[in-house]
Amino acid sequence: MSFFASVEMAPGDPILGLTETFIADQRPEKINLGVGIYVDEQGRIPLLDTVREVEQALAAAAKPRGYLPIDGLPAYNKLTQQLLFGADSALLEAGRVATAQTIGGSAALRVGADLLKQVAGAGAKIAISNPSWGNHHVVFRTAGFELLEYRYYDPASHGLDFAVMLADLGKLEPGTVVLLHACCHNPTGVDLTAAQWKQTIALLQERKLLPFIDIAYQGFDQGTDADATAIRLLADSGIEAFVVANSYSKSFSLYGERVGALSMVGADRNEAARILSKIKQTIRTIYSSPSSHGATLVAGVLGSAELRPRWEQELGEMRSRIHTMRAGLVQRLAAHGAANFDFINRQAGMFSYSGLSKAQVLRLRDEHAIYALDSGRICVAALNHGNLDTVAAAVAAVIR
Ligand code: LMR
Repeated sequence: MSFFASVEMAPGDPILGLTETFIADQRPEKINLGVGIYVDEQGRIPLLDTVREVEQALAAAAKPRGYLPIDGLPAYNKLTQQLLFGADSALLEAGRVATAQTIGGSAALRVGADLLKQVAGAGAKIAISNPSWGNHHVVFRTAGFELLEYRYYDPASHGLDFAVMLADLGKLEPGTVVLLHACCHNPTGVDLTAAQWKQTIALLQERKLLPFIDIAYQGFDQGTDADATAIRLLADSGIEAFVVANSYSKSFSLYGERVGALSMVGADRNEAARILSKIKQTIRTIYSSPSSHGATLVAGVLGSAELRPRWEQELGEMRSRIHTMRAGLVQRLAAHGAANFDFINRQAGMFSYSGLSKAQVLRLRDEHAIYALDSGRICVAALNHGNLDTVAAAVAAVIR
């Protein structure tokens, strides 16, 4: 008997596993609207010009590859803090933010979860929106949290059910962690307005709940500052502690470089220093220290007075292409007799929660070689003028 004889087959990942199935699909006309990856009009993942320039300079400099510190590249952490909290942030000035570079947003979530579990102990609970990114549940469950959910999305209006969201948050026990998407909610594309954030934050404060913000699409809705509204409002609210996990996969088109960061806000400089020591201890036991290449690219762009505005412009071009694709999809669906998809124009970010049923999604896959998530989530950032008609016709066919 092999040592591993008792190992069972784990189910495939609902998002990355679907990409594996897509790659294996032999049909040449196949289209992947499953995973959240932005592709350009030619159907390619872009390499941003600003990133390319930093990369070329790096290659020419041919520097040695020592270890990064456990918490990553110092310049990257500082620039990340400024991008999230604002360059003139009072929290940063007060030294209240402990930031560590992580392996993508996923490791930021996991390291944060591990540390919060240490603090909260046996009764650790987290409330996650229904629905949410599937990995949120797995990461926090694996870290030992009890999972709770709060209602969020209203299928009838294709929008936010704010009243029930507040009602659910209002019932949580003090000390519960609340996971919130800063912008471009994954999978629904439905976000809170600034006024709704203010109300939510007041409730979180009153109920002594710990906000854990996930921001993976900064710049994909309105711009880097506007998309950080939730973080800026939390910072201004006087709340003593909150957590932010961020990712540059999308905003720098650096998916495979795994660039993210964990930022934990404490009550004062001293508390932040203690938190950072614990973040480092946690990282050391998982992967010792992060890798340098992606973070060096991001820091090279964000830290350059010349490249930074050009990057904002490249990000703006991705954002506006997505808006064009949303409008194009709605228009073509209507032309194919599928009305009432206007809500796609109101959703923010890479995704549309299309309202397609699982059976319809399976028909899209089987009959049209178009891949979407079982939940009906489609990645509108993977549409282009070459595939828009095909997708609209196929969606219209499966809902007929
Ligand atoms: C997604 O939701 O498709 C992306 O965040 C990629 C992933 O890791 O799931």
